Amino acid sequence: MSKTAEIKFEDKSYSLPIVEGTENEQGIDIAKLRAESGLITLDPGFKNTGSTKSAITFLDGEKGILRYRGYSIEELAEKSTFLEVSYLLIYGELPTAEQLADFQSQIKVHTLVHEDIKKILEGFPSNAHPMGVLSSLVTALTAFYPESLDPNRSSDKVNMSIIRILAKMPTFAAWAYKNEVGHPVNYPDNSLDYCSNFLKMMFALPAEKYEVDPVISSALDKLLILHADHEQNCSTSTVRVVGSSQASLYASISAGINALWGPLHGGANSAVINMLEGIKKDGGDTKKWMAKAKDKDDPFRLMGFGHRVYKNFDPRAKIIKKAADDVLDKLGVNDPILDIAKGLEKEALEDQYFVDRKLYPNVDFYSGIIYRALGIPVDMFTVMFALGRLPGWIAQWKEMRENNEPIGRPRQIYVGENLRPYVGMEKR
Ligand code: CMC
Repeated sequence: MSKTAEIKFEDKSYSLPIVEGTENEQGIDIAKLRAESGLITLDPGFKNTGSTKSAITFLDGEKGILRYRGYSIEELAEKSTFLEVSYLLIYGELPTAEQLADFQSQIKVHTLVHEDIKKILEGFPSNAHPMGVLSSLVTALTAFYPESLDPNRSSDKVNMSIIRILAKMPTFAAWAYKNEVGHPVNYPDNSLDYCSNFLKMMFALPAEKYEVDPVISSALDKLLILHADHEQNCSTSTVRVVGSSQASLYASISAGINALWGPLHGGANSAVINMLEGIKKDGGDTKKWMAKAKDKDDPFRLMGFGHRVYKNFDPRAKIIKKAADDVLDKLGVNDPILDIAKGLEKEALEDQYFVDRKLYPNVDFYSGIIYRALGIPVDMFTVMFALGRLPGWIAQWKEMRENNEPIGRPRQIYVGENLRPYVGMEKR
């Protein structure tokens, strides 16, 4: 017999179906509640609201589990590559060797961007934040590929939009950085793999020979895998909601980039480094900063700590912490803020405030330290997150379109003025 939940309101009782997922997650289906009872549900920040049924990513925040299409993040980070994971997320299965080769070569064919996009880039002042530049260039793609505007076209055409954005994002990301530092842009080098090509576009200078360091390239590949999807987070929900109005893939992804930008989401990786630098400059007294983080009258929060869904450890943070040690070791980098980070983590994990609230380091706590060791400037950290999250956004957008989901449109409880007569200017 199918399960139900009862809601009692005034003198009536309403029976609501229970929906079960493949990992036995259970939710109350309230779709008919309003029609039957006049009630809506209120949940600011959607803290306990499921917005969709999805087959892409499974996450158990209590147990610290993260899986893409059923494969554990630990195994994928160790054995896979970013493009293989992208294929898995977008198309649902790991590719065969032939499928992967075809996917990679399709992406290589489209890495170049229209020369006129350079003119748009040149219009930005050099102090433009690269996240703003990135989201603008992604939106600009709609103008260069107007056929992408209709998300209901044949799956081949939609697939071409998917390939194009996967191919061009590294070019945009590297160019956004070049604009910031005032250097000429580099064109893609299709003899290189995805991450090496990005690194060369980002760091090569016309007057110098540039060889991609395989240690850097493979560390970046791993970081991108760890960021590739995270079910219905703020930016992904944004992508799905924007796409639910049948806006194009590029418009939806551009909105996702903007949602990611904030310091409570993808912007946390830059905020962590700024915080650790601030603590170092201030003399390195971690206790003082811990006290500030706990003080409710102080707006300071320990950046890179806490998560909406992880109430145990963030499995990505575990992998990244180890990767940070490995990368710094291999590159021979001695970064004093790594010690401050480890000290803060140790204190927080033993502190009653953090223990009671189940606040653990999240993916952003150590990722910035690796990005820094790879030579990536702080402003670009969130751009790196966007590069990693791209296949997840695409997969979620595609799933939403294929399931023909309804337009996202929440309700509200109105708490403003009741009807009142208009008052003329002379009486105000
Ligand atoms: N430092 C100090 N206190 C914290 C922190 C923190 N980093 N995070 C949460 N708290 C406290 C918060 O004050 C609240 O305390 P109380 O119950 O006494 O009012 C309690 O813990 C619950 O926090 P919340 O803000 O209600 O939780 P949330 O689910 O709304 O927010 C969060 C989650 C990630 C926005 C928050 O933990 C935070 O601001 N962390 C710092 C920013 C950060 O690292 N963000 C990156 C998230 S991971 C990357 C991604 O996927 O975006």
